[in-house]
Amino acid sequence: MAESGYGGMRVLVTGGAGAIGVNLSARLLELGASVVVLDDFSSAYEWNLPNGVELVRGDVRDESALAEAFGKRPNRVFHLAAHFANQNSVDHPETSLDVNGMGTLRVLERCRQARVERVVFASSGCGVYGPECPLPFREEQVSLRLHTPYQLTKLLGELLGNYFHVHYGLPFVSARLFNVYGPGEVPGHYRNVIPNFFFRAIRGEALPITGTGEETRDWTFVRDAVDALLAMGTSEAAVGEAFNVASGTEVRVIDMAEDVNRITGNKAGIRHLPRRDWDAKTRLCASIGKARALLGYEPRVPFREGLEQVHAWFTGCWNSIRASTDLES
Ligand SMILES: NC(=O)c1ccc[n+]([C@@H]2O[C@H](COP(=O)([O-])OP(=O)(O)OC[C@H]3O[C@@H](n4cnc5c(N)ncnc54)[C@H](O)[C@@H]3O)[C@@H](O)[C@H]2O)c1
Repeated sequence: MAESGYGGMRVLVTGGAGAIGVNLSARLLELGASVVVLDDFSSAYEWNLPNGVELVRGDVRDESALAEAFGKRPNRVFHLAAHFANQNSVDHPETSLDVNGMGTLRVLERCRQARVERVVFASSGCGVYGPECPLPFREEQVSLRLHTPYQLTKLLGELLGNYFHVHYGLPFVSARLFNVYGPGEVPGHYRNVIPNFFFRAIRGEALPITGTGEETRDWTFVRDAVDALLAMGTSEAAVGEAFNVASGTEVRVIDMAEDVNRITGNKAGIRHLPRRDWDAKTRLCASIGKARALLGYEPRVPFREGLEQVHAWFTGCWNSIRASTDLES
């Protein structure tokens, strides 16, 4: 996969202090890039940021913060900053639209002015595919029947980027990320289920499944997602395209929960809660044929091994995680 070519490159990662951003930034540094992170730390923690990044603390909607970040003259931009995710957007729809819509528009405009050589946008599999799309989801299907403001703002981000590509020739790529998990994601009220389950399991609490547990997800290990993002940042074939970034396999929520309890030795089991009203997709599974063919993408970390790595990270960072999370007991 085309992850070489970053040596000596200047890379801007918006949202680079977030769950995926810290992993992407760390890998870019390993590959010899200089990395600028633009993040307002609305859902991030400085202790989680890798050593060696140059930090611009600010909002992607704020022109002065953008001027400072783009003043570093990046030649690649990964736009990850976002108001995350579904429930948060149902509770705060205006912030969702503002950050993910206006913020993305302003980042794209700066990229155009700076003649950035590549912009990779963090879109979302749950954002563009509706329950009516046949499985496995393929890139040519897009749904207009979405269920949360977050989902439609992720589709909006793709549409804005495609407009900049078509109208201005901006080299833009969309990464349709599916349920990314791994070390680096601090649990929280609006965070993903895997870190939240580990947090509760380590504390000996029953894991709350919203639904029957028969629902499936296509969980993607963060380092595999980072490999795909890096390839999108260099591959010529990627320009103007959208790619599913996923494992290509379905895992039932109940099986994931039982794995988390087994790995942590949690005896408290599982409790069932009603399904969330916006949660209309009982199954999620992506086709990764396009990413394989055009990017050489291949997920490398099996699900249970990925979960073990999350557990190891929780164990190593427990005090910082506990001090940072807003998860109630
Ligand atoms: N994690 C997933 O499963 C997943 C799935 C699909 C898509 N995505 C997308 O990938 C990207 C990264 O996801 P993540 O899981 O790392 O989320 P995250 O919330 O951990 O990261 C987003 C980062 O953006 C920052 N941020 C938020 N608002 C900002 C603003 N106005 N200005 C500057 N920074 C701001 C946050 O502080 C955070 O560090 C997001 O765009 C998300 O929508 C993630």
